[in-house]
Amino acid sequence: MSANSHPTIVESRTEAPFYRPVDDEVEVFRAAARRGVPVLLKGPTGCGKTRFVEAMAHDVGRKLITVAGHEDMTSADLVGRFLLKGAETVWVDGPLTRAVREGAIFYLDEVVEARQDTTVVIHPLADHRRELPIDRLGTTLPAAPGFQLVVSYNPGYQSVLKNLKESTRQRFIAIELDFPPVDTEAEVVAHEARIDVETARTLVKIGHAIRNLDGSGLREVSSTRMLILAAELVGEGLSLRSATQAAIVQVLSDDHDVVRALGELVDALLP
Ligand SMILES: Nc1ncnc2c1ncn2[C@@H]1O[C@H](COP(=O)(O)OP(=O)(O)OP(=O)(O)O)[C@@H](O)[C@H]1O
Ligand SMILES: [Mg+2]
Repeated sequence: MSANSHPTIVESRTEAPFYRPVDDEVEVFRAAARRGVPVLLKGPTGCGKTRFVEAMAHDVGRKLITVAGHEDMTSADLVGRFLLKGAETVWVDGPLTRAVREGAIFYLDEVVEARQDTTVVIHPLADHRRELPIDRLGTTLPAAPGFQLVVSYNPGYQSVLKNLKESTRQRFIAIELDFPPVDTEAEVVAHEARIDVETARTLVKIGHAIRNLDGSGLREVSSTRMLILAAELVGEGLSLRSATQAAIVQVLSDDHDVVRALGELVDALLP
């Protein structure tokens, strides 16, 4: 298995991850989980997709197996392969097969990065069949109760259009996650970076102002993750100005004019 397709496995008995609901996403996920319906999560980078899945896996009491999609990912990376052990060849389950056997939530992050051949194993698991064909073993594995497929992608990235086939999409229900409203986001930033809510609110207002810019030419806007990083710097004693410059303005763009304009916008919002 290639080094970067190693899964992260989180047992369900760990402490509840901190997650603040933004809309009805928790109820929608719970309903889908009760029926084993696969979920497609969409939203910009750093908006809380991974945290949401972690929180929901805990909420419904399932193990969570996470794999990050990448361009070399093939179905064998997910399903498993024969490996040479001494003089013997032994079959080693991939992370998807494990999740299918154990009734875990399988979270494929950045699904569109994975090769097209992964749809061969995703489709029969994502519809009424709920089974995983394992060609190399000549078997088909029925999914254990509790198994649920969750995939995520960032609709802002171009590759999606060509990669996520309609026949794949329509096997899922979709939840759109977006950045939380000011009060919720301030609470999240304060909690994650362990700073006071008032300072967090100032950072969040800056984030919202940048998100509302029209025609800024930015590839991505200021994410919750980015605001948390700025807050961490503030927590270490940096001024709000230095922290926002380093964690927000300079990260969002390399274009001098854009950096200057963002800097001015930030300065106008600082207390
Ligand atoms: N509603 C929320 N409740 C709690 N934490 C949140 C929420 N939204 C965002 N966060 C925080 O924002 C940070 C980034 O979230 P996360 O890593 O889940 O983003 P993501 O959408 O998975 O990003 P990427 O697409 O880059 O993987 C985390 O520290 C997370 O705790
Ligand atoms: Mg993520």
